[in-house]
Amino acid sequence: MTVSKERLEAFEAALRASFPEGLALFTDAETLAPYARDESDLGEFPAQLLVRAANTAQVSRVLALATELEVPVTPVGARSGKSGGSLAVQGGVVLSLEAMNRIVEVNADDLLMVVQPGVLTAQVDEAAARLGLFYPPDPNSAGYCTMGGNVAENAGGPRALKYGVTRDYVIGLEWVLPTGEVLRVGRRTGKGVAGYDLVALFVGSEGTLGVATEITVKLIPRPRVVKTALIPFRNVADAARALTSVLTSGVWPRTLELLDEVALQAVAGRGLPVPAEAGAVVIAELDGNYEEGVLSELAMLVDQCASWGSLEAVVAQDEAQRERLWAVRKEVSPALRALAGKKISEDIVVPRSKVPEAIERFKAAGAKAGLTVATYGHAGDGNLHSNVLYASKADWPRVEVVLAELMAITVDLGGTITGEHGVGLAKKRFLPLEQPLALRELQRRLKVFFDPSVTLNPGKIWD
Ligand code: LAC
Ligand code: ZN
Repeated sequence: MTVSKERLEAFEAALRASFPEGLALFTDAETLAPYARDESDLGEFPAQLLVRAANTAQVSRVLALATELEVPVTPVGARSGKSGGSLAVQGGVVLSLEAMNRIVEVNADDLLMVVQPGVLTAQVDEAAARLGLFYPPDPNSAGYCTMGGNVAENAGGPRALKYGVTRDYVIGLEWVLPTGEVLRVGRRTGKGVAGYDLVALFVGSEGTLGVATEITVKLIPRPRVVKTALIPFRNVADAARALTSVLTSGVWPRTLELLDEVALQAVAGRGLPVPAEAGAVVIAELDGNYEEGVLSELAMLVDQCASWGSLEAVVAQDEAQRERLWAVRKEVSPALRALAGKKISEDIVVPRSKVPEAIERFKAAGAKAGLTVATYGHAGDGNLHSNVLYASKADWPRVEVVLAELMAITVDLGGTITGEHGVGLAKKRFLPLEQPLALRELQRRLKVFFDPSVTLNPGKIWD
């Protein structure tokens, strides 16, 4: 689907007239090409016009004109999303926020930072670290994803287990509504309950309710000691059962990541110290301010795992070893794709007690269709990246069957179809499994309330 040439030219002319000093506007295929894709594996959706916004006024004008002329606009950050949130499914305009990449304020006394949406997530934590502070959200893509994208998708990551997700840290937003109106919502204070919590609504709205042009995040004290252990198990079932019991034993690790035997196979030879008999590993990380305390809690955790049959744990001895463990963990997703050729990655969540059953049923669902389902991810949160691996387009009908079954099992176990990547385009068809019509209709009415002409990121979450 594309927008007519006349309408697009009217949009371009009006936008150029508003900024006689010039703006970064492109219509050539070469500049637009990379914006047709993201990391969802959902295909290519070329837009017709790209604006790289330099400031809030430009964002506001783009949205106001889009509403007036009924031109679809898709906001984009680094295009690292996994659910297709930044794909321009109806063509039209892509509004890139990547050039608005300034850290506006770092305020140690007030424990906050104000950033523009194009700032990379890792840069936020690096700036916080220089002051002994901490910005915990750590999506796998932290080194190249943007804060605007994290806000749109309410990004999570391994450390969400102890520290929560993006929404738990965003306290204020400069927010441009689809009509172009610019609002400041939220606070700069430690607490605040005035009015409805619009920040909570906008974070995770997947680019459908407006665009963040400034983001205020809270920071917390940075723990001084971090210890990481790699704990192998003979099979994924033992590992999954151990995780649920660790969390009731009194320790509170910041990560409990799981890799099953397929994920292990995918990263074989990359330096994970795993014994040959291992069929799964857990990466557990604990933090605190005193080495002795953190190490004794780690020992408690390792003991707990041993009572569920774990093999000998390896504790990273220095920062370089820690980083190597996490580097391999970060490679799991692309390594799984390389293993099979193609894959679809899910990010379902089940209640923690159901993790063992979920993994077993997912594998069985894959096997029934002759496909491999690999599971890794944030198992301590019950958040599983179950990946359906396949070789070619011809397998797609079987992949569809397995995906539908994964979603049905998840909902049957009391879970949710997406824990960190969002509904976007990828999970739209499964939302009715989880949410009844009345609830979906209420949210649809919210969308139309904020975006009456339905021009902002159309086709996402809702049809
Ligand atoms: C991960 C991404 C896919 O955790 O969310 O690897
Ligand atoms: Zn993840």
